[in-house]
Amino acid sequence: MSFLTAFFYDRVMAKTEAACLRQWRRELLAQVNGEVLEIGAGTGANITLYSERVSRLTLTEPDRHMRRQLEEKIANHDPQRLGVSEGNAENIVAEDESFDYVVTSLVCCSVNDLDASLREVKRVLKPGGGLVFLEHVAAPEGTSRRRWQNRINPIWKIFMGNCHLNRETENAIIEQGFEITRIERESMCNAPPIVRPTIRGIAIKPRPPR
Ligand SMILES: C[S@@+](CC[C@H](N)C(=O)[O-])C[C@H]1O[C@@H](n2cnc3c(N)ncnc32)[C@H](O)[C@@H]1O
Repeated sequence: MSFLTAFFYDRVMAKTEAACLRQWRRELLAQVNGEVLEIGAGTGANITLYSERVSRLTLTEPDRHMRRQLEEKIANHDPQRLGVSEGNAENIVAEDESFDYVVTSLVCCSVNDLDASLREVKRVLKPGGGLVFLEHVAAPEGTSRRRWQNRINPIWKIFMGNCHLNRETENAIIEQGFEITRIERESMCNAPPIVRPTIRGIAIKPRPPR
């Protein structure tokens, strides 16, 4: 991501955040507790929305320009409870089964390899732990919006930090063996039509059979 994209990120997102994203983030994150990993935390849009029931929050952000803003935002937080690292989703630097929840918001569109990232999420989640997701996704196959997403995607991802418009993230989550226990599909308000379709919810890593 370029310096400029990172610099203007919060300002570009402000109207969409106010119109719906902030509320969606708040509702989702209210359910999160224990040891939590947030991947691709960006400029830290979620950090004030975690409750006291989160015992430790680890934020990863591979982009140095975004990470600088993130580090500035967390400067006054307790370092025992909140840490930042550089890692990317395809190669999470953490022990197997070490988190109760992993959070991704507007990240699955941008990772290089979505399947590898979700495999890593599953590896680091405890059995019964949850992937909390809020993602913009592909419109249904055969729709005019999907055709526009497919057409614009090659250019869009070059200028928008590898953001893909047409990822079938819900299918990818299911294919990695998660059980989606809550999902909402809504249109992102105050956003360009090609990024409006979203999914948000929780996918559980199944416990092994006894
Ligand atoms: C659209 S921003 C979303 C930021 C933040 N999560 C939010 O909700 O506002 C996408 C973020 O994903 C990060 N990202 C891109 N590729 C990544 C990867 N392979 N692993 C982890 N994060 C990645 C980017 O650096 C960027 O901060």
